[in-house]
Amino acid sequence: MGRRHAENLRRLVPQAQLVAVADVAAERARRTAGELEIENSFGSLEAMLECKGLDAVIIATPDKFHADAVKTVAAAGKDMLCEKPLALTLSDAHELLDAVSKAGVRLQVGFMRRYDPAYSAAMKRIEAGEIGVPVVFKSVGRDKDGPPLSAYQANLGGMLFYTNTIHDFDLARWLMQDEVSEVHAYTTVAIRPEVAQFGDVVASVVNFKFNQGAIGNIESYAQAVYGYDVRTEIVGSKGSIMVGSMQQTPATFLTAHGKTQAIADHFLTTFADAYLAEIQDFVDAMLNDRQPRVSGEDGLRALAIAVAAENSYLQAKPVKVSAVSSVSGS
Ligand SMILES: NC(=O)c1ccc[n+]([C@@H]2O[C@H](COP(=O)([O-])OP(=O)(O)OC[C@H]3O[C@@H](n4cnc5c(N)ncnc54)[C@H](O)[C@@H]3O)[C@@H](O)[C@H]2O)c1
Repeated sequence: MGRRHAENLRRLVPQAQLVAVADVAAERARRTAGELEIENSFGSLEAMLECKGLDAVIIATPDKFHADAVKTVAAAGKDMLCEKPLALTLSDAHELLDAVSKAGVRLQVGFMRRYDPAYSAAMKRIEAGEIGVPVVFKSVGRDKDGPPLSAYQANLGGMLFYTNTIHDFDLARWLMQDEVSEVHAYTTVAIRPEVAQFGDVVASVVNFKFNQGAIGNIESYAQAVYGYDVRTEIVGSKGSIMVGSMQQTPATFLTAHGKTQAIADHFLTTFADAYLAEIQDFVDAMLNDRQPRVSGEDGLRALAIAVAAENSYLQAKPVKVSAVSSVSGS
């Protein structure tokens, strides 16, 4: 993910200058710097923060290191975009948001789907009242290939709710313009029981309620095999909006054997425009001295839903989403 952000900044966002890249795998950082034709690469975030001419940092480390990285960048007085999830625990998230607030720096969270042309068009129509009062939110998020077992063993990322469903939790809050109050999660490891020992699941269904009476449902699946499949529907009192087609391109191929369509296979292709628009908006916010559109508080609230979903799965019952008080400066 860091590589894509770096490529976008280097090649497609002329208002920003990519000054340096860092990775604990220093050779990877050096190679990336070489390929992107920039001078500076570092083997740690701390070393990179010493680099002259640095105004802002994109954090795309594994989930487990987000909280520490945000605090380190805040302490250095730099603005930042941090990939989702903001943190893996609510206490870490509160701590890092305090650090951001005290340092007076800006933080954007990487919920790039908000920048996807179809999702942002849906939001504009909802805001214009075209579907009336939102009543039901439904979303499907399926990755094509499940992570290798070594990724579970490494224990550097959150479970399915934190890595995958978190995007839909954010969409639910954003598109329904409401907060999720209660969740009930069902999960399965039936086709890959070995992931259970790492506290993870292969697929989940989360039913939920919103504060103002609407309801929702999100299905997440780590290994759909056939493709990368992200779809959302928002049903309102006057109509419905469906986002997501599963298709890689709009082309349909017809032969004597039937009809085929290329199915999307990866988030980097499906959401290519969204990642670019996300970084452009981050750079624009920094240059124009405004707060980012996707805030630290958005990161915290989506995380609170993920935590409730995990608790619901562990306790096998509905769980209230813990109240999150507004966070200043985030
Ligand atoms: N928004 C999205 O759609 C999206 C998509 C994919 C990944 N992500 C997020 O991006 C982050 C990275 O995911 P990924 O798939 O690129 O992971 P990855 O494991 O492929 O890459 C992570 C990189 O970070 C380096 N690293 C590890 N610890 C570090 C540290 N403390 N300081 C500096 N570098 C460190 C690793 O060496 C590696 O090169 C995750 O938080 C993930 O959830 C977001």
